[in-house]
Amino acid sequence: MRIAVITESDPQESRVAVTPETVKKLKALGADLVVQAGAGLGSGITDADYEAAGAAIAADARAALADADIVLKVRRPNDTEIAGIKKGALVIGIMDPYGQEAALKKMADAGLAAFAMEFMPRITRAQVMDVLSSQANLAGYRAVVDASAAYGRALPMMMTAAGTVPAAKIFIMGVGVAGLQAIATARRMGAVVTATDVRPATKEQVESLGAKFIAVEDEEFKQAETSGGYAKEMSKEYQAKQAELVATHIAKQDIVITTALIPGRPAPKLISEAMVASMRQGSVIVDLAVERGGNVAGAKAGETVVTPNGVTILGYLNVPGRLAATASSLYAKNLYSFLETMIDKKEKVLAVNWDDELVAATNLTREGAIVHPQFKPQV
Ligand code: NAI
Repeated sequence: MRIAVITESDPQESRVAVTPETVKKLKALGADLVVQAGAGLGSGITDADYEAAGAAIAADARAALADADIVLKVRRPNDTEIAGIKKGALVIGIMDPYGQEAALKKMADAGLAAFAMEFMPRITRAQVMDVLSSQANLAGYRAVVDASAAYGRALPMMMTAAGTVPAAKIFIMGVGVAGLQAIATARRMGAVVTATDVRPATKEQVESLGAKFIAVEDEEFKQAETSGGYAKEMSKEYQAKQAELVATHIAKQDIVITTALIPGRPAPKLISEAMVASMRQGSVIVDLAVERGGNVAGAKAGETVVTPNGVTILGYLNVPGRLAATASSLYAKNLYSFLETMIDKKEKVLAVNWDDELVAATNLTREGAIVHPQFKPQV
Protein backbone atom coordinates (compact mmCIF):
# COMPACT_ATOMS: atom_id res chain seq x y z
CA MET A 1 0.00 0.00 0.00
CA ARG A 2 1.93 2.98 -1.30
CA ILE A 3 0.67 6.50 -0.50
CA ALA A 4 1.97 9.50 -2.44
CA VAL A 5 1.85 13.15 -1.48
CA ILE A 6 3.02 15.86 -3.86
CA THR A 7 3.54 19.62 -3.77
CA GLU A 8 0.26 21.34 -4.65
CA SER A 9 0.56 22.80 -8.14
CA ASP A 10 -1.85 25.72 -7.58
CA PRO A 11 0.33 28.75 -6.75
CA GLN A 12 -2.33 29.86 -4.21
CA GLU A 13 -1.99 26.62 -2.28
CA SER A 14 0.34 26.56 0.71
CA ARG A 15 -1.23 23.55 2.41
CA VAL A 16 -0.09 19.93 2.23
CA ALA A 17 -2.07 16.70 2.62
CA VAL A 18 0.07 14.92 5.23
CA THR A 19 1.98 15.99 8.31
CA PRO A 20 4.69 14.03 10.13
CA GLU A 21 1.98 13.07 12.64
CA THR A 22 -0.28 11.50 9.99
CA VAL A 23 2.70 9.92 8.22
CA LYS A 24 3.42 8.00 11.43
CA LYS A 25 -0.22 6.97 11.79
CA LEU A 26 -0.48 5.84 8.17
CA LYS A 27 2.72 3.83 8.51
CA ALA A 28 1.25 2.13 11.55
CA LEU A 29 -1.62 1.01 9.29
CA GLY A 30 0.89 -0.66 6.99
CA ALA A 31 1.37 2.03 4.34
CA ASP A 32 4.59 3.20 2.67
CA LEU A 33 4.65 6.99 2.35
CA VAL A 34 6.38 8.86 -0.44
CA VAL A 35 6.43 12.67 -0.22
CA GLN A 36 7.69 14.97 -2.96
CA ALA A 37 10.71 17.02 -1.87
CA GLY A 38 9.58 20.41 -0.56
CA ALA A 39 5.86 19.51 -0.43
CA GLY A 40 5.54 20.64 3.20
CA LEU A 41 7.57 23.84 3.06
CA GLY A 42 4.53 26.11 2.65
CA SER A 43 3.27 24.67 5.93
CA GLY A 44 6.61 24.82 7.70
CA ILE A 45 7.33 21.09 7.35
CA THR A 46 10.76 20.10 6.02
CA ASP A 47 11.75 16.95 4.13
CA ALA A 48 13.79 15.98 7.17
CA ASP A 49 10.63 16.18 9.33
CA TYR A 50 8.86 13.80 6.97
CA GLU A 51 11.85 11.46 6.82
CA ALA A 52 12.08 11.39 10.60
CA ALA A 53 8.42 10.33 10.66
CA GLY A 54 9.20 7.47 8.27
CA ALA A 55 8.34 8.82 4.80
CA ALA A 56 10.59 8.46 1.76
CA ILE A 57 11.33 11.66 -0.18
CA ALA A 58 10.94 11.66 -3.98
CA ALA A 59 12.76 14.19 -6.15
CA ASP A 60 9.68 15.28 -8.10
CA ALA A 61 5.93 14.71 -8.48
CA ARG A 62 6.40 12.05 -11.18
CA ALA A 63 8.64 9.97 -8.98
CA ALA A 64 6.35 10.38 -5.98
CA LEU A 65 3.21 9.39 -7.90
CA ALA A 66 4.77 6.42 -9.72
CA ASP A 67 3.02 3.23 -8.65
CA ALA A 68 1.08 4.88 -5.81
CA ASP A 69 -2.11 3.09 -4.71
CA ILE A 70 -3.39 6.18 -2.92
CA VAL A 71 -2.70 9.85 -3.65
CA LEU A 72 -3.52 12.36 -0.92
CA LYS A 73 -4.06 15.91 -2.19
CA VAL A 74 -5.32 19.27 -1.03
CA ARG A 75 -6.79 20.21 -4.44
CA ARG A 76 -7.98 18.31 -7.49
CA PRO A 77 -5.03 16.93 -9.52
CA ASN A 78 -4.20 18.72 -12.79
CA ASP A 79 -3.84 16.95 -16.15
CA THR A 80 -0.11 16.24 -15.79
CA GLU A 81 -0.64 14.83 -12.32
CA ILE A 82 -3.55 12.69 -13.49
CA ALA A 83 -1.35 11.26 -16.26
CA GLY A 84 1.22 10.20 -13.65
CA ILE A 85 -1.21 8.29 -11.42
CA LYS A 86 -1.78 4.60 -12.06
CA LYS A 87 -5.15 3.18 -13.01
CA GLY A 88 -7.28 2.16 -10.05
CA ALA A 89 -5.52 4.41 -7.54
CA LEU A 90 -7.56 6.33 -4.97
CA VAL A 91 -7.17 10.12 -5.13
CA ILE A 92 -8.55 11.99 -2.15
CA GLY A 93 -8.76 15.77 -1.82
CA ILE A 94 -10.96 18.87 -1.99
CA MET A 95 -12.18 18.33 -5.55
CA ASP A 96 -14.32 21.45 -6.10
CA PRO A 97 -16.28 19.55 -8.78
CA TYR A 98 -19.13 21.97 -9.62
CA GLY A 99 -18.83 23.09 -13.23
CA GLN A 100 -15.72 20.91 -13.67
CA GLU A 101 -17.26 18.07 -15.68
CA ALA A 102 -14.29 17.98 -18.09
CA ALA A 103 -11.84 17.53 -15.22
CA LEU A 104 -14.03 14.83 -13.69
CA LYS A 105 -14.12 13.02 -17.02
CA LYS A 106 -10.32 13.12 -17.20
CA MET A 107 -10.06 11.47 -13.79
CA ALA A 108 -12.69 8.90 -14.81
CA ASP A 109 -10.93 8.17 -18.12
CA ALA A 110 -7.66 7.66 -16.26
CA GLY A 111 -9.42 5.01 -14.17
CA LEU A 112 -8.92 6.88 -10.90
CA ALA A 113 -11.18 6.54 -7.88
CA ALA A 114 -11.50 10.21 -6.94
CA PHE A 115 -13.04 11.32 -3.64
CA ALA A 116 -14.29 14.82 -2.77
CA MET A 117 -13.71 15.43 0.94
CA GLU A 118 -16.10 18.39 0.92
CA PHE A 119 -19.00 15.99 0.26
CA MET A 120 -18.47 14.20 3.55
CA PRO A 121 -21.87 13.83 5.22
CA ARG A 122 -22.21 15.99 8.32
CA ILE A 123 -23.04 13.10 10.59
CA THR A 124 -21.48 12.37 13.97
CA ARG A 125 -19.23 9.54 12.70
CA ALA A 126 -17.75 11.80 10.03
CA GLN A 127 -17.19 14.96 12.10
CA VAL A 128 -13.49 14.14 12.37
CA MET A 129 -13.34 14.04 8.53
CA ASP A 130 -15.23 17.31 7.96
CA VAL A 131 -12.83 19.46 5.93
CA LEU A 132 -15.41 22.21 5.42
CA SER A 133 -15.55 22.72 9.18
CA SER A 134 -11.85 22.33 9.92
CA GLN A 135 -10.90 24.87 7.26
CA ALA A 136 -13.86 27.31 7.59
CA ASN A 137 -13.19 27.63 11.31
CA LEU A 138 -9.65 28.83 10.55
CA ALA A 139 -10.91 31.14 7.79
CA GLY A 140 -13.29 32.78 10.27
CA TYR A 141 -10.48 33.36 12.73
CA ARG A 142 -8.07 34.64 10.08
CA ALA A 143 -10.68 37.02 8.63
CA VAL A 144 -10.78 38.90 11.94
CA VAL A 145 -6.98 38.93 12.21
CA ASP A 146 -6.69 40.23 8.62
CA ALA A 147 -9.39 42.85 9.17
CA SER A 148 -7.80 44.09 12.36
CA ALA A 149 -4.42 44.38 10.62
CA ALA A 150 -5.95 46.44 7.80
CA TYR A 151 -7.95 48.60 10.22
CA GLY A 152 -5.87 51.55 11.35
CA ARG A 153 -7.24 51.48 14.86
CA ALA A 154 -7.37 49.23 17.93
CA LEU A 155 -10.23 46.77 18.42
CA PRO A 156 -10.79 46.82 22.20
CA MET A 157 -11.88 49.78 24.26
CA MET A 158 -8.87 51.17 26.09
CA MET A 159 -8.94 53.72 28.87
CA THR A 160 -5.53 55.33 29.01
CA ALA A 161 -4.10 58.47 30.59
CA ALA A 162 -3.94 59.93 27.09
CA GLY A 163 -7.59 59.31 26.44
CA THR A 164 -10.20 56.64 25.82
CA VAL A 165 -10.12 54.51 22.68
CA PRO A 166 -13.58 53.28 21.68
CA ALA A 167 -14.17 49.59 20.92
CA ALA A 168 -14.46 48.72 17.22
CA LYS A 169 -17.87 47.64 15.94
CA ILE A 170 -17.71 44.40 13.95
CA PHE A 171 -20.64 42.93 12.01
CA ILE A 172 -20.54 39.28 10.89
CA MET A 173 -22.86 38.26 8.04
CA GLY A 174 -23.48 34.53 7.79
CA VAL A 175 -23.11 32.51 10.96
CA GLY A 176 -22.01 29.04 9.85
CA VAL A 177 -18.73 27.55 11.01
CA ALA A 178 -16.61 30.49 9.76
CA GLY A 179 -19.01 33.13 11.09
CA LEU A 180 -19.19 31.58 14.56
CA GLN A 181 -15.39 31.53 14.84
CA ALA A 182 -15.24 35.11 13.54
CA ILE A 183 -17.68 36.19 16.27
CA ALA A 184 -15.69 34.38 18.97
CA THR A 185 -12.40 35.86 17.73
CA ALA A 186 -13.77 39.40 17.43
CA ARG A 187 -15.19 39.14 20.95
CA ARG A 188 -11.87 37.89 22.33
CA MET A 189 -10.17 40.87 20.68
CA GLY A 190 -12.55 43.20 22.47
CA ALA A 191 -14.82 44.38 19.65
CA VAL A 192 -18.54 45.06 19.96
CA VAL A 193 -20.01 42.33 17.77
CA THR A 194 -23.30 41.95 15.91
CA ALA A 195 -24.21 39.17 13.49
CA THR A 196 -26.88 38.12 11.05
CA ASP A 197 -28.01 34.94 9.29
CA VAL A 198 -31.16 33.65 7.61
CA ARG A 199 -31.28 30.43 9.66
CA PRO A 200 -33.24 30.93 12.92
CA ALA A 201 -31.03 28.40 14.78
CA THR A 202 -28.16 30.87 14.59
CA LYS A 203 -29.85 33.45 16.82
CA GLU A 204 -29.19 31.49 20.00
CA GLN A 205 -25.65 30.61 18.87
CA VAL A 206 -24.84 34.28 18.24
CA GLU A 207 -26.24 35.32 21.61
CA SER A 208 -24.41 32.53 23.45
CA LEU A 209 -21.14 33.97 22.10
CA GLY A 210 -22.01 37.38 23.55
CA ALA A 211 -22.92 39.06 20.27
CA LYS A 212 -26.17 40.74 19.25
CA PHE A 213 -28.34 39.08 16.60
CA ILE A 214 -29.82 41.24 13.85
CA ALA A 215 -32.20 39.82 11.22
CA VAL A 216 -35.60 40.16 9.58
CA GLU A 217 -37.42 37.51 11.63
CA ASP A 218 -40.52 36.98 9.49
CA GLU A 219 -42.36 33.78 8.46
CA GLU A 220 -39.88 33.04 5.66
CA PHE A 221 -36.97 33.32 8.11
CA LYS A 222 -38.63 30.70 10.33
CA GLN A 223 -38.53 28.23 7.38
CA ALA A 224 -35.11 29.17 6.00
CA GLU A 225 -33.13 26.14 7.19
CA THR A 226 -33.07 22.98 5.06
CA SER A 227 -33.25 19.56 6.71
CA GLY A 228 -29.49 19.34 6.07
CA GLY A 229 -28.90 22.43 8.25
CA TYR A 230 -28.03 24.73 5.35
CA ALA A 231 -29.57 28.01 4.16
CA LYS A 232 -32.09 28.22 1.32
CA GLU A 233 -31.92 30.93 -1.30
CA MET A 234 -34.26 33.65 0.04
CA SER A 235 -37.09 35.30 -1.93
CA LYS A 236 -36.61 38.70 -3.61
CA GLU A 237 -38.99 40.20 -1.00
CA TYR A 238 -36.98 38.84 1.90
CA GLN A 239 -33.73 40.01 0.33
CA ALA A 240 -35.13 43.53 -0.01
CA LYS A 241 -36.21 43.63 3.65
CA GLN A 242 -32.86 42.19 4.70
CA ALA A 243 -31.00 44.80 2.62
CA GLU A 244 -32.98 47.63 4.21
CA LEU A 245 -32.18 46.44 7.74
CA VAL A 246 -28.53 45.81 6.91
CA ALA A 247 -28.11 49.18 5.18
CA THR A 248 -28.77 51.26 8.29
CA HIS A 249 -26.67 48.94 10.45
CA ILE A 250 -23.65 48.76 8.14
CA ALA A 251 -23.24 52.54 7.98
CA LYS A 252 -22.31 52.44 11.70
CA GLN A 253 -19.81 49.54 11.51
CA ASP A 254 -16.01 49.68 11.49
CA ILE A 255 -15.45 46.15 10.19
CA VAL A 256 -17.80 43.82 8.30
CA ILE A 257 -16.97 40.15 7.66
CA THR A 258 -19.18 38.24 5.24
CA THR A 259 -19.26 34.43 5.08
CA ALA A 260 -22.70 33.71 3.53
CA LEU A 261 -22.95 30.69 1.24
CA ILE A 262 -25.74 28.54 -0.20
CA PRO A 263 -24.65 25.01 -1.21
CA GLY A 264 -24.40 24.59 -5.01
CA ARG A 265 -25.48 28.23 -5.69
CA PRO A 266 -23.56 31.47 -6.15
CA ALA A 267 -22.98 33.35 -2.90
CA PRO A 268 -25.86 35.73 -2.02
CA LYS A 269 -25.19 39.43 -2.66
CA LEU A 270 -25.55 41.05 0.74
CA ILE A 271 -23.64 44.34 0.55
CA SER A 272 -24.40 46.75 -2.28
CA GLU A 273 -22.21 49.50 -3.63
CA ALA A 274 -24.40 52.07 -1.83
CA MET A 275 -23.86 50.26 1.48
CA VAL A 276 -20.09 50.27 0.97
CA ALA A 277 -20.31 53.98 0.12
CA SER A 278 -22.21 54.62 3.38
CA MET A 279 -19.35 53.31 5.52
CA ARG A 280 -16.80 55.56 7.17
CA GLN A 281 -13.36 56.21 5.72
CA GLY A 282 -10.94 53.65 7.19
CA SER A 283 -13.47 50.87 7.69
CA VAL A 284 -12.72 47.36 6.46
CA ILE A 285 -14.78 44.64 4.78
CA VAL A 286 -13.60 41.03 4.45
CA ASP A 287 -15.48 38.93 1.87
CA LEU A 288 -14.84 35.28 2.70
CA ALA A 289 -17.31 34.24 -0.03
CA VAL A 290 -15.24 35.90 -2.77
CA GLU A 291 -14.21 32.56 -4.32
CA ARG A 292 -17.87 31.66 -4.82
CA GLY A 293 -18.91 34.96 -6.42
CA GLY A 294 -18.73 37.14 -3.31
CA ASN A 295 -21.20 38.72 -0.89
CA VAL A 296 -19.89 42.24 -1.40
CA ALA A 297 -20.24 44.56 -4.42
CA GLY A 298 -16.79 45.63 -5.55
CA ALA A 299 -14.90 42.76 -3.85
CA LYS A 300 -12.29 41.23 -6.16
CA ALA A 301 -11.01 37.67 -5.80
CA GLY A 302 -7.39 37.70 -4.71
CA GLU A 303 -7.24 41.50 -4.41
CA THR A 304 -7.46 44.30 -1.88
CA VAL A 305 -9.68 47.10 -3.12
CA VAL A 306 -9.79 50.58 -1.58
CA THR A 307 -12.98 52.40 -2.56
CA PRO A 308 -13.13 56.14 -3.34
CA ASN A 309 -14.62 56.76 0.13
CA GLY A 310 -11.68 54.94 1.76
CA VAL A 311 -13.21 51.55 2.60
CA THR A 312 -10.77 48.63 2.27
CA ILE A 313 -12.33 45.44 0.86
CA LEU A 314 -10.19 42.34 1.39
CA GLY A 315 -10.78 39.53 -1.09
CA TYR A 316 -8.11 37.02 -0.07
CA LEU A 317 -8.22 33.64 -1.78
CA ASN A 318 -7.63 30.47 0.21
CA VAL A 319 -7.88 32.12 3.62
CA PRO A 320 -7.23 28.83 5.50
CA GLY A 321 -3.96 28.67 3.50
CA ARG A 322 -2.97 31.93 5.24
CA LEU A 323 -2.59 29.77 8.34
CA ALA A 324 -1.03 26.93 6.40
CA ALA A 325 0.65 25.07 9.25
CA THR A 326 -2.53 24.89 11.31
CA ALA A 327 -4.76 24.28 8.29
CA SER A 328 -2.55 21.43 7.05
CA SER A 329 -2.41 19.77 10.44
CA LEU A 330 -6.21 19.69 10.70
CA TYR A 331 -6.74 18.81 7.04
CA ALA A 332 -4.22 15.96 7.22
CA LYS A 333 -6.09 14.54 10.23
CA ASN A 334 -9.39 14.79 8.32
CA LEU A 335 -7.82 12.79 5.47
CA TYR A 336 -6.23 10.24 7.78
CA SER A 337 -9.52 9.63 9.56
CA PHE A 338 -11.29 8.94 6.27
CA LEU A 339 -8.54 6.76 4.83
CA GLU A 340 -8.39 4.76 8.04
CA THR A 341 -11.96 3.57 7.38
CA MET A 342 -10.81 2.13 4.02
CA ILE A 343 -7.92 0.06 5.38
CA ASP A 344 -8.16 -3.46 6.77
CA LYS A 345 -6.16 -3.04 9.99
CA LYS A 346 -5.49 -6.75 10.51
CA GLU A 347 -4.33 -7.54 7.00
CA LYS A 348 -2.84 -4.06 6.53
CA VAL A 349 -4.29 -3.74 3.03
CA LEU A 350 -6.62 -1.36 1.26
CA ALA A 351 -10.19 -2.66 1.60
CA VAL A 352 -12.69 -0.07 0.39
CA ASN A 353 -16.30 -0.79 1.22
CA TRP A 354 -17.98 0.91 -1.75
CA ASP A 355 -21.37 0.64 -0.05
CA ASP A 356 -20.24 2.60 2.99
CA GLU A 357 -22.23 5.83 3.39
CA LEU A 358 -19.10 7.99 3.57
CA VAL A 359 -17.51 6.36 0.52
CA ALA A 360 -20.70 6.60 -1.54
CA ALA A 361 -21.21 10.27 -0.63
CA THR A 362 -17.69 11.35 -1.58
CA ASN A 363 -16.75 9.05 -4.48
CA LEU A 364 -16.81 10.99 -7.78
CA THR A 365 -15.23 8.59 -10.28
CA ARG A 366 -14.53 4.85 -10.36
CA GLU A 367 -13.61 2.22 -12.94
CA GLY A 368 -13.65 4.61 -15.86
CA ALA A 369 -16.91 6.39 -15.06
CA ILE A 370 -18.26 9.41 -13.18
CA VAL A 371 -20.32 7.68 -10.48
CA HIS A 372 -21.49 10.48 -8.19
CA PRO A 373 -25.25 11.05 -8.59
CA GLN A 374 -24.77 14.83 -8.84
CA PHE A 375 -22.35 14.58 -11.78
CA LYS A 376 -23.22 11.31 -13.51
CA PRO A 377 -24.01 12.05 -17.18
CA GLN A 378 -27.80 11.81 -17.72
CA VAL A 379 -28.84 8.98 -20.03
P1 NAI B 1 -22.14 27.62 4.73
O1 NAI B 1 -20.68 27.79 4.56
O2 NAI B 1 -22.89 26.86 3.70
O3 NAI B 1 -22.84 29.07 4.84
C1 NAI B 1 -22.39 30.03 5.78
C2 NAI B 1 -23.58 30.71 6.42
O4 NAI B 1 -24.18 31.63 5.49
C3 NAI B 1 -24.70 29.77 6.86
O5 NAI B 1 -24.89 29.90 8.24
C4 NAI B 1 -25.91 30.26 6.06
O6 NAI B 1 -27.11 30.12 6.78
C5 NAI B 1 -25.54 31.71 5.82
N1 NAI B 1 -26.33 32.40 4.80
C6 NAI B 1 -26.76 31.95 3.59
N2 NAI B 1 -27.48 32.89 2.96
C7 NAI B 1 -27.50 34.00 3.76
C8 NAI B 1 -28.08 35.31 3.65
N3 NAI B 1 -28.79 35.68 2.59
N4 NAI B 1 -27.90 36.16 4.69
C9 NAI B 1 -27.19 35.80 5.76
N5 NAI B 1 -26.61 34.60 5.92
C10 NAI B 1 -26.77 33.69 4.93
O7 NAI B 1 -22.44 27.00 6.15
P2 NAI B 1 -21.56 26.06 7.07
O8 NAI B 1 -20.58 26.85 7.82
O9 NAI B 1 -21.06 24.94 6.25
O10 NAI B 1 -22.65 25.52 8.10
C11 NAI B 1 -23.89 25.01 7.64
C12 NAI B 1 -24.61 24.23 8.70
O11 NAI B 1 -23.96 22.99 8.96
C13 NAI B 1 -24.75 24.91 10.04
O12 NAI B 1 -26.03 24.62 10.51
C14 NAI B 1 -23.71 24.22 10.87
O13 NAI B 1 -24.01 24.34 12.23
C15 NAI B 1 -23.86 22.82 10.36
N6 NAI B 1 -22.70 21.97 10.64
C16 NAI B 1 -22.90 20.70 11.12
C17 NAI B 1 -21.85 19.88 11.39
C18 NAI B 1 -22.06 18.49 11.88
O14 NAI B 1 -21.17 17.70 11.84
N7 NAI B 1 -23.21 18.13 12.33
C19 NAI B 1 -20.49 20.33 11.20
C20 NAI B 1 -20.38 21.66 10.67
C21 NAI B 1 -21.46 22.43 10.42
